[in-house]
Amino acid sequence: MNGDRLQRKIDVKICVLPGDGIGPEIIVQALRVLKALDLKCEIEEAPLGGCAVDAVGDPFPEATQRLALAADAVLLGAVGGPKWDVLPRELRPERGLLGIRKLLGLFANLRPAALYPELANASTLKPEVVAGLDLLIVRELTGDIYFGQPRGIETRGVDGVEQRIGINTMIYSEEEIRRIGKVAFEAARKRKRKLCSVDKSNVLETTQLWRDVMNELAPAYPDVELTHMLVDNAAMQLVRAPKQFDVIVTGNMFGDILSDEASMLTGSIGMLPSASLNETGKGLYEPCHGSAPDIAGKGLANPLATILSVAMMLRYSFALEEMAQRIENAVKNVLGQGLRTADIHEPGTTKLDTEQMGDAVLAAL
Ligand code: IPM
Ligand code: MG
Repeated sequence: MNGDRLQRKIDVKICVLPGDGIGPEIIVQALRVLKALDLKCEIEEAPLGGCAVDAVGDPFPEATQRLALAADAVLLGAVGGPKWDVLPRELRPERGLLGIRKLLGLFANLRPAALYPELANASTLKPEVVAGLDLLIVRELTGDIYFGQPRGIETRGVDGVEQRIGINTMIYSEEEIRRIGKVAFEAARKRKRKLCSVDKSNVLETTQLWRDVMNELAPAYPDVELTHMLVDNAAMQLVRAPKQFDVIVTGNMFGDILSDEASMLTGSIGMLPSASLNETGKGLYEPCHGSAPDIAGKGLANPLATILSVAMMLRYSFALEEMAQRIENAVKNVLGQGLRTADIHEPGTTKLDTEQMGDAVLAAL
């Protein structure tokens, strides 16, 4: 009976969305790693993004929605490409991504940015500024100006002139702020216990509320040091002295911008995984980088961010910490051997293509 329970515990259903550009080729390598683990999993693939628009005329087809809802976790490659940028907004690949975030209620986006010592030269910043860098951005993912109503482009009289106006609404309820705040405080607790909340409370009421709610949460986490920073200053501090940060919590829009900035501190966006979680711990896991259509199909893509996203899946959705660490250690081992894809290659290291990098990780496992 024990064995049976154990069996069931590791029996998981994963929905895989390869997406566009380099998405499919990096997913192939991540799945090889997943299948090499001692984990009984059922994998179902479905289209999302541009490939779904091409196949069925919808960036987030109903069949994909059903599979994503039924799965225990979702693994995504990347979506988008210039080919679809000419389409109306509701048909663009990005709509698929925003759609799945909203459908699954994935409000908590965890974007770690840690520098691998072996890749210290990859950063454009001086090694002493980034050596030992290890920060986590907790970005709210289902609210803010991304989803606020009203929105649109309409024609109105403004200053006596009939003209087009563009409208988006930045809005957060205190409940939305509280739940992401809790995720961030909990994350800080498991790290260096420093949480910096980023807002623009000198100008925007929404983010004044954000700051107030973070302060209201703080007494429940006396072991975590909470500080606040205005977003413009945070953008500056991230390049000036990024090691002052441990966990950063911020809204959807600011988090979008700051997480791109943070990822480049490491100089190797091809290495960074991410997790987007809902209230039940169900998650979508994807590399931080995009679909890189310019290098798609050439074997140049770095599969490590996607492989590391599998590790995050094992950790956050399935509580399989040991298995997660096995993957992370395999990646470190590969870097230690001087094996690199083109994006992180430097003189004295060995250049591998996408599949060879998959082989190397498998061997190290
Ligand atoms: C990201 C991306 C998306 C976002 C786009 C593709 C809609 O930039 O995941 O950061 O803005 O959230
Ligand atoms: Mg972004």
